[in-house]
Amino acid sequence: MSEAKNIAVRSQTDASHHPSVSPSTFHSPSSGLGGALRGLEKQLKPFNTQDIKILLLENVNQSGKDILKAQGYQVEALKASLPEDQLIEKIRDIHVIGIRSKTKLTAKVLGEAKNLLVIGCFCIGTNQVDLDFAAHHGIAVFNSPFANSRSVAELVIAEIITLARQLGDRSNEMHNGTWNKVSAKCWEIRGKTLGIVGYGHIGSQLSVLAEAMGMSVIYYDVVNLMAMGTAQQVPSLEQLLNEADFVTLHVPEVPETKNMIAAPQLAQMKDGAYLINASRGMVVDIPALINAMRSGKIAGAALDVYPNEPRANGDYFNNTLNGWEEDLRSVKNIILTPHIGGSTEEAQRAIGVEVGEALVRYINQGSTLGSVNMPEVNLRSLTPDEPNHARVIYIHKNVPGVLRKVNEILGNHNVDKQISDSKGDIAYLMADVSDVQTSDIKDIYDSLDALSSRILVRVLY
Ligand SMILES: NC(=O)c1ccc[n+]([C@@H]2O[C@H](COP(=O)([O-])OP(=O)(O)OC[C@H]3O[C@@H](n4cnc5c(N)ncnc54)[C@H](O)[C@@H]3O)[C@@H](O)[C@H]2O)c1
Repeated sequence: MSEAKNIAVRSQTDASHHPSVSPSTFHSPSSGLGGALRGLEKQLKPFNTQDIKILLLENVNQSGKDILKAQGYQVEALKASLPEDQLIEKIRDIHVIGIRSKTKLTAKVLGEAKNLLVIGCFCIGTNQVDLDFAAHHGIAVFNSPFANSRSVAELVIAEIITLARQLGDRSNEMHNGTWNKVSAKCWEIRGKTLGIVGYGHIGSQLSVLAEAMGMSVIYYDVVNLMAMGTAQQVPSLEQLLNEADFVTLHVPEVPETKNMIAAPQLAQMKDGAYLINASRGMVVDIPALINAMRSGKIAGAALDVYPNEPRANGDYFNNTLNGWEEDLRSVKNIILTPHIGGSTEEAQRAIGVEVGEALVRYINQGSTLGSVNMPEVNLRSLTPDEPNHARVIYIHKNVPGVLRKVNEILGNHNVDKQISDSKGDIAYLMADVSDVQTSDIKDIYDSLDALSSRILVRVLY
């Protein structure tokens, strides 16, 4: 059985887009993937791993750095983001960039990135990247949307107890020198009903934690979902609002969820109920909430997200932001936090692992699973007893007739397996070809590279 080799073929027409080097023998490092299959998989490598240059900005978590360094890639990690001119200078030379939310990867910046294969957003959102431009230039983008679900769920549990016991107000009073020992309208949460709106990653985690603390859980979701524990799905938002002592929102930002909780919905809630929003700012009509709290209809609220949020830390939570901040701050028993639901060390570490592994999987095996701007395509791994195989990746314009042309090129070889999918006008094809020699690989590469539909060709061997 021969060892995995490391062969890359440089495009004749667009050599700048490929960080390839001459063929060389390669002893693969252990993959960050694989689980039980580890050791049985053949490690595909597009080129010498030392030639992969990665720039990590904004203090990406150590877990992500470790995964990338373990592959032998050249990793440069900076603590801050870079001003645009310096970013452009750096991005010309690298194959992978890892960012968080501050670095803006606009069309202007990405247009300079001639070697860039993939972007890792070590965060939840991807608004800071021009996803469309990236896709049209064959640059895949990965993020980590759900690594902080547990952190949000735990924060909500803390808030439920804090609101039920008016802890925020008591603590503020003590900070101002006032001793105010009261038990009126302070409650245990045991036996109370928690209404979860949106039973996805966060909502379902929360369901388990709340039941463990003796709460009854009901939930409303637009999809019929299997309940955790003894939680019960209710058929309408109205029913949930009528029955819950605590209502917590975990829906995405979509047109249907804008002002989902406004004056009519607050009126449907039980007298003295509590509202928690750690989803998106536009889900709650905040002036209506202020009114409902002033009237005593709502006994307490916790807000972690706001329609407009400051871009940086500082003295910015005032009326210039949304126009109602002063009123909101004056309300009793309201917990206001600066969008920290997912902000924990554990979540940062999990994001580092998830995005780091996605980058390795994409670089080494071409898998786009989890990509936000490419069709999700994956082929099962090659095994070590398939020594003369090559994996062909063809990112192309989604236009008629491409597959026929590709198959004419691959048709001279034995295509073991092939998969293709499209997303909008971008398509991604992956094929494993057997019994190929180095010269065959170069032919395949050059032929695919010459097709007018081509965006990017990679051959992993
Ligand atoms: N505060 C924070 O720091 C923080 C951190 C992570 C996520 N979030 C936000 O939390 C929210 C939930 O995140 P998630 O990871 O659980 O998302 P998810 O996609 O896993 O779950 C969302 C659920 O909402 C349901 N849903 C969609 N529209 C609905 C509607 N109109 N009515 C009822 N249910 C509806 C979906 O079917 C899904 O089950 C998102 O808005 C996300 O941006 C906030």
